[in-house]
This record gives sequence, structure tokens and C-alpha cells, in this order.
Amino acid sequence: MNHSQVKTAIVVGASGGIAQALITKLLQADADRHVIAISRSPEDKQAATASNPGLHWLQSDNSEESMAGIARDLGSASFSIDRLFICNGVLHQHAIAPEKRLKSVDRDALHAVFEVNAFVPILWLKHLLPLMPSNGHNAVTVFSARVGSIEDNRAGGWYAYRASKAAMNMLLKTAAIEHRRFARNTRFLAFHPGTTDTALSAPFQQGVSPDKLFSPDFVAERLLQIVEALPAEPTLNFLDWEGKAVAW
Ligand SMILES: NC(=O)c1ccc[n+]([C@@H]2O[C@H](COP(=O)([O-])OP(=O)(O)OC[C@H]3O[C@@H](n4cnc5c(N)ncnc54)[C@H](OP(=O)(O)O)[C@@H]3O)[C@@H](O)[C@H]2O)c1
Repeated sequence: MNHSQVKTAIVVGASGGIAQALITKLLQADADRHVIAISRSPEDKQAATASNPGLHWLQSDNSEESMAGIARDLGSASFSIDRLFICNGVLHQHAIAPEKRLKSVDRDALHAVFEVNAFVPILWLKHLLPLMPSNGHNAVTVFSARVGSIEDNRAGGWYAYRASKAAMNMLLKTAAIEHRRFARNTRFLAFHPGTTDTALSAPFQQGVSPDKLFSPDFVAERLLQIVEALPAEPTLNFLDWEGKAVAW
């Protein structure tokens, strides 16, 4: 099947709370748009989207072999990919918890958190960015976090999460600089969603006032509005859910 005329968004890390809301909104916003969802999970468990003919669910273990294989298949299917959202992120998992003190910093945890928050996103970008056409208006969003801002770090703590998001920001910036040398039609966004009610933030929501704890639906809606309004220049922005700039 040739999908070259079909506008297509890719959502990586598709089983996450915000990613699921994003997929629903993308499919609702434009009935003709296709969404390619990539996840470690074998299938979409959302009733709202699972049977949508515009949704193509692909499983990946995030190995480079799997990334290259998916990129090859998508390239030969000729989807017109104009939106890419990379949603992967981990703050706590199994034995990993955000460190309050330097003495809690652990080599294995650093590796695991950097792997998901920095290495996986940049490697997906490496494989998927070449699929985006050199004409038209493309947008690449990678989920960052305000705590990844070096300038904004006043509270300390959360060593691995902060540093891995800061590393992801630098990797994204470096890719954006390289890309704009030969194509200026792609806008890059490092996105801070605000505290959002998902599994990632669940253990840390006690101190958050209800008006500062967003639903995934609200954040997905805001993100899509922000992406559509991104200026042509600069081609790279670090923005929060309000569309306000976050210090790098
Ligand atoms: N929720 C918040 O308050 C908040 C605040 C600031 C920033 N963020 C960022 O927003 C993004 C989305 O988070 P969320 O709130 O939707 O969290 P979530 O529901 O926990 O989803 C996180 C996603 O990351 C991927 N992931 C988790 N562990 C992984 C692993 N070991 N290897 C590869 N991928 C893994 C998963 O993708 P699969 O589909 O492959 O499982 C999952 O869908 C993250 O980058 C997060 O850091 C969230």
C-alpha cells in the first residue's frame, strides 16, 4: 500500500499515559491522519483507539536492530511523516527511585535512567528523522522535563532523572543544529508537560495542588496546539505546557 499522501504522526513510547491521550487526540483531530504507535507493549489496550483503522501499532524492544527494521519498513511503505513524538521517560522503576542525596546515587540506576530518558530518544531520532520529508512543515517533539533545566535547578535531588533529561536536551539540540544545515522545515521541541497524572508521577503527587496536576488529555491537547503554533525560527524550542520558554 502506498501511503505517501497520507499525513502520518509517529508516537514512540505509545503505551504511556500522555502518549495514549496524544494518540486519541491525533486521531480525533484529523480523521484522515494516520498514527504509527511504537511501544514495548505488543498492542494498544485503549478501547478508544485499538480498532481505529488509522492506528498502526508496532512493537519494539528499543534495540537499534528493531529501530532500523521499523525505519526500513516505514520507509518502504512511503508514509508522509510530518509529526514525531518521542514520549519515553522513567523516573522510578523496580528498585530505581529518584535520589534525594548524593549518597544514593547508584551506577546501575544511572545507566538505566539515562538509557530510557536520553539514549532511547536520540536513537529513535537517528532512525526516524531521515523518514521525514524535506518539504512541508515537520515537527519533532521529545518529552523533556523542567527539572532537566540546568539553569532552573534550585531544589537539587533527582540526580539521574535531572541529568538524563539535561543530556537528552543537549542531544536534541545537537541534532537540531545539524539538521537545519540542510533542511529548515523541521521544528524541534523539548516539551515539559507539567505534573501530569500518570504512572510516572503517581508516587509524587501528594504535595501537588489539584489545579497543578494535569490530566493526560489536557496536556495532549495543549501539546498539539503548541506544536501547530511553533514558529519557523528558532527551529528548536524548550517549552512548557503553557507554551512558555523553559531555560536550558
Ligand atoms: N507525568 C509527569 O508528571 C511528567 C512530568 C515531566 C515530564 N514527563 C515526561 O513525559 C513523558 C511521558 O511520561 P508519562 O507521564 O506519560 O509517563 P508513563 O505513563 O510512565 O509513560 C512513560 C513511557 O516511557 C516508556 N518507558 C518506560 N520505561 C521504559 C523502559 N525501561 N524502556 C523504554 N521505554 C520505557 C514507556 O513506553 P512503552 O510504550 O515502550 O512502554 C512509557 O510509555 C516522559 O518522558 C516523562 O519523563 C512527565
